[in-house]
Amino acid sequence: MAHFVSHLEGAIDGTALPFGTLANTHAGRPIRVRYHLDRVRAAVTPADLAARPPTLWRYRELLPLPADADPVTLGEGMTPLLPCPRLGRELGLTNLFVKDESQLPTGSFKSRGMTAAVSMAKWLGVKRVALPTAGNAGGAAAAYAARAGIECYVFMPADTPAVNQFEAVLYGAKAFRVNGLITDCGKIVRDGAGRMGWFDLSTLKEPYRLEGKKTMGLELAEQMGWELPDVILYPTGGGTGLIGMWKAFAELAELGWLSAANRDRQGAGVGEGHPLPDGRGSPRMPRLVSCQAEGCAPIVTAFEKGERFAEPFPNARTVASGLRVPAAVGDFMMLDAIRESGGTAAAGSEARIGEWMRRASSAEGVAVCPETAVCFDVLERLVKAGGVKPDERVVVFNTGAAPKYLEALPAELPALDKDAVDWDRVAAG
Ligand SMILES: Cc1ncc(COP(=O)(O)O)c(C=O)c1O
Repeated sequence: MAHFVSHLEGAIDGTALPFGTLANTHAGRPIRVRYHLDRVRAAVTPADLAARPPTLWRYRELLPLPADADPVTLGEGMTPLLPCPRLGRELGLTNLFVKDESQLPTGSFKSRGMTAAVSMAKWLGVKRVALPTAGNAGGAAAAYAARAGIECYVFMPADTPAVNQFEAVLYGAKAFRVNGLITDCGKIVRDGAGRMGWFDLSTLKEPYRLEGKKTMGLELAEQMGWELPDVILYPTGGGTGLIGMWKAFAELAELGWLSAANRDRQGAGVGEGHPLPDGRGSPRMPRLVSCQAEGCAPIVTAFEKGERFAEPFPNARTVASGLRVPAAVGDFMMLDAIRESGGTAAAGSEARIGEWMRRASSAEGVAVCPETAVCFDVLERLVKAGGVKPDERVVVFNTGAAPKYLEALPAELPALDKDAVDWDRVAAG
C-alpha cells in the first residue's frame, strides 16, 4: 500500500487516528489527513510535477489514495489562472487574477473534492453514499458516484437552483428536495445512516473532500512559480476550499517548495509550526479573505466578534446558493486560517450580486457565479478602504459556472419581429 499518509487527526484536539478505515468525524468535528512530508520531499520535486499530466492527480504524493489504486476521475484538469486587467483597472488593481474553477467537470470546484472523496470511498469498499448539498456538491457527487458505480443519495433545499436539481437526476442519483436549509438536509443524512447503510459524504464530515480541495492551493502555487499571491478572495460556505488551501500552503512551506520571494514580501507568516527545512524562517503567506453574502454570514459575524466558533446564522437567505450554509462544522478551522493568514472576513451586498455577475463576466469573458460576485463586491470595498493595495497580487476564485444559476440573473431578451425589424431597438442594444 504505497502512500505518504502518516495518520488522520482530529482537527479540534489533534488526536491521532488510524488511516485505512472509514472515518467521518472525531468529537463531532472534522478529521484531517497528515503526511510524512519528509518522505514526500525525498520522493518528488516541483520539477517532477511539471512533467506530469495537467490534472489534480499530479499531486499524488500529497493525496491520500494509495499509488496502486485507480482514482475515480473525470479528467479534472488544471484550471486557468486568468489575468484580468480590465476588471482590475475598474477596481483600481494592477495585478488581478481569476482562478476559473468553472471549467472543471460538472462546472464547479466541487469536482476536486469529489474525485478525492469518491476515490477513497471506493477504495474503502463503500457501495452507497449520501450527502446534503447547497447545489453544486450534489451534482458533482452524483457524477463521480456514477463514474465509480456507487449509489448516491442527494438531499437539497427545495429552492436549490434548477440546474443543480437536474444534474443530480441526470447522473442517476436519488435526489430529494427538502423544505429546509442544508443543515436540515444534513440531519436527514445523519438520521438515515443506520437505516440506509450509506456513507456520509457531507463536507468536512469525511476527511478527503478537503484533500481534493487542497489542490486549488497546490495548483495556484505551481502556476505562480511557487510564489504565492498577496491576497486570495474566496467565497465561503462550508469552508472546505478555504481550509484546504491553507493546509496546502502549510504543507508546501514545510516541504520547502515555496520560493524565496515568499519569505521577503510583506504579509503574515504561516506560523511557528511551519519553519522551512533549511531553517530560513517562515515563508510569507497570502492573506485569506473569506467572502460571504449579507444574507448568510456566520463566519463574518464570528470573525468580527473575535470568536473561534460561529453561531448559526438566523434566517439564512441568499441567491448565492453555495454560500447558504448557516452553520459549518469546520467554523473554527476557517476562522483559525483567516486569522493566521492576517486576512479578514467580509460580507458582500446581496443587492449587487446580479450586477457583479454581469460586470465581471462582461469585462473579462469569465462566467462569474453569484458566489464569486460577492467576492468582487468585498474586493471593491477593501481596495477603497486601503485593505488591499493597488499593486498587490490578488487572486479571486470563480468557484462555479454562471450558467448554472439562471434564477440569479434572469436574462429577458428584447423580442424582434422577423418581418419588421425595429432597428432603433437593435441600435439601443
Ligand atoms: C459555487 C460555489 N462557491 C462556493 C461554495 C462554498 O464552498 P466551500 O464549502 O468550500 O466554502 C459553494 C458550495 O456549495 C459553491 O457551490
